[in-house]
Amino acid sequence: MEGNWRGRDVISILDFTREELEELFKHAESMKKSLEEGRVEKKLKGRIIALAFFEPSTRTRLSFETAAKRLGADTIGFSSGFSTSVEKGETIADTIRMLDSYADAIVIRSKYEGSALLAAEIAGKPVINGGDGKQHHPTQAMIDLYTVRELKGRIDGLVYAIVGDLRYGRAATSFILALTRYQPESVIFVSPPQLKPRPEVLMLLEEAGIRYSYARLEDAVEAADVLYVTRIQKERFPDPAEYEKVKGSYRVTRSLLEEKAKRELKVLHPLPRVDEITHDVDDTEWQAYFTQAANGVPVRMALLSLILG
Ligand code: CP
Repeated sequence: MEGNWRGRDVISILDFTREELEELFKHAESMKKSLEEGRVEKKLKGRIIALAFFEPSTRTRLSFETAAKRLGADTIGFSSGFSTSVEKGETIADTIRMLDSYADAIVIRSKYEGSALLAAEIAGKPVINGGDGKQHHPTQAMIDLYTVRELKGRIDGLVYAIVGDLRYGRAATSFILALTRYQPESVIFVSPPQLKPRPEVLMLLEEAGIRYSYARLEDAVEAADVLYVTRIQKERFPDPAEYEKVKGSYRVTRSLLEEKAKRELKVLHPLPRVDEITHDVDDTEWQAYFTQAANGVPVRMALLSLILG
């Protein structure tokens, strides 16, 4: 049975059941096929999507824009608060009120936790969270699960190693939360002690009955079916000195993978990367992060068409 998508806000990955995610993935599969065959239906012709990006973005903003345009919609928006009247002292709330009257849906990214939820409370039109501070990045988690499902044939029963900034990284947090909708074999965390997942995230894993542990990078790579690597989030550290202590504390290299990884391992990364995966991994069979980034378009097309269709 089809879920209730029309007019829906997307704030956290936890807003979605497994059945709803599976429904989204089936739509994304069909969007991907229609993109490959060059026969995309202009389902959203005449619609306008507002892209309100108060924080930098390459993939999220441009893949939403591509998704909207592929479906025949137009986009308005900005890629920095500096080019808006927020610079003159206007509140984000007033900005959202304006966009609500101009557009049919709003995608928002901001450094403030809870900003997407606030926008959803203000706007009558659907609001999609494109990342709010260290809290949530739900559409990234949808893309991540979709990519695992596509490349591994399933999401259940796999060993996931999740590496990097698991405390301040919203993509990693949303990915961990997304796994609570499935039944992984186990989850292995690799991070400096200061960057372990937040207690509320671990509590949700425990409630879902998912086994997790901590390991060294080498051991995690050896055990994993999916290696999810993330950047240390310099911009979210409350204290720059703390960032200096942990930056560059792990690195996935081709030689490490050749020594330890299963042949079928898939390496994901929400991107951007800095130095946590070396470029010599890019042309190996393990690399899946560029496929993952490209999947942003069909997954976001599926989401927009379900919400606005
Ligand atoms: N993965 C991701 O959110 O990338 P951007 O910051 O480039 O949007």
